[in-house]
Amino acid sequence: MEEIRIQNISKDFDGFLAVDGVDLTIRSGELFSFLGPSGCGKTTLLRMIAGFETPQRGNIFIGDEDITDLPPYKRPVNTIFQNYSLFPHMTVWDNVAFGLKIRKVPLPEIQSRVSEMLQLVKMEDQSAKYPAQMSGGQKQRVAIARALINKPKVLLLDEPLAALDLKLRQHMLIELMNIHDAVGITFIYVTHDQGEAMSISDRVAVMDKGKVVQAGPPDDIYERPASIFSAYFIGETNLITGQVIGIEDEYIQLRCNMGDGEFFEIDSTFHFRPEVGQQLTVSLRPEKIAISRNKPRIQDDINVLKGSIEDILYLGSHTQYIVTVGKLKFRVFSQHKRVYFDDTALDWDEEVWLFWHDTDSWLIDEMPDEAAYASESMVHPPRFGKREQSRNIAEEQ
Ligand SMILES: Nc1ncnc2c1ncn2[C@@H]1O[C@H](COP(=O)(O)OP(=O)(O)O)[C@@H](O)[C@H]1O
Ligand SMILES: [Mg+2]
Repeated sequence: MEEIRIQNISKDFDGFLAVDGVDLTIRSGELFSFLGPSGCGKTTLLRMIAGFETPQRGNIFIGDEDITDLPPYKRPVNTIFQNYSLFPHMTVWDNVAFGLKIRKVPLPEIQSRVSEMLQLVKMEDQSAKYPAQMSGGQKQRVAIARALINKPKVLLLDEPLAALDLKLRQHMLIELMNIHDAVGITFIYVTHDQGEAMSISDRVAVMDKGKVVQAGPPDDIYERPASIFSAYFIGETNLITGQVIGIEDEYIQLRCNMGDGEFFEIDSTFHFRPEVGQQLTVSLRPEKIAISRNKPRIQDDINVLKGSIEDILYLGSHTQYIVTVGKLKFRVFSQHKRVYFDDTALDWDEEVWLFWHDTDSWLIDEMPDEAAYASESMVHPPRFGKREQSRNIAEEQ
């Protein structure tokens, strides 16, 4: 079993850098995802691993073998696309057997391997059907069986579930994880859907404008985003900007502009050492904030703000509150437990207290910019930088 090493790979389409100096090591047997908004270069990177695109710069290794210049058919990889690309005039059985037939594998072996693959994807009783007679989910299963029958070392999946409806997608995600466990090979999974990537992957590479901006296990990216882009693209977050006014052993103090001439101060633990006077961003996940009409007991390691409820959205498992603090808007998720503070539901325009633990304020050494991050989910910072090229992050959500 061999790892895939992507070294400083770049791909330029007529002066447009679709993939920009990507370095990644994907471990053998991993279920690894490329996650990012539409147009960030995921497919191009995947196609370079498959051999359908040639990089201008960099190398790709599988184990010790440099595969950068190998044609696709000589690489130990196989690709599954969103549109299934099954042969419409062939039955399920023939579609799956095709790769073995052209390699002139003896018929008894073909029969046993096709039946093993159809069993793996739970399509053994559909083998006589044609693609037009099957649902999207079934076609995708056949495509998986066909891709795996040649025993590739790596399976590449480019948004394989994008054409399916939500329930089926959730079901197929679990199936894919089971198939991955059963075959034990490396899967590289491309998606713009952070929920898919988070739930399925051992590790995720977050991509933005051709670059990998962060790679790690899903919980690491969610809890410890390395950039505003990571914090904002994965899950929901509040971005609070402020100036460092004090540094203690275990936490820093930030002075934050509420946008109406007033300021509040919050504390945050830190994972890099900022300087007094520096401007920073804090990412604060909505579910980490407690909300109550009663003022919490003052404690050293708890941040407390007073605000007013502007919006309430009932979401079944939890309620989302938009709470204004000065001109800032905080998004807060509150689960429907009635054991903590209030027995009666909070109401519109009600004055409330927001509070959260210092360790839940996650520092990011960067300032947000309006074009890319303006939305209700952020606390609007007093000053924004300019960005030449803004991309619509929500475009494909
Ligand atoms: N063959 C091509 N010729 C020119 N531009 C391309 C080509 N393929 C992709 N691009 C551009 O490269 C960028 C990255 O595309 P792609 O890798 O398909 O992104 P993603 O899969 O993340 O949506 C896009 O701006 C796209 O328009
Ligand atoms: Mg794509």
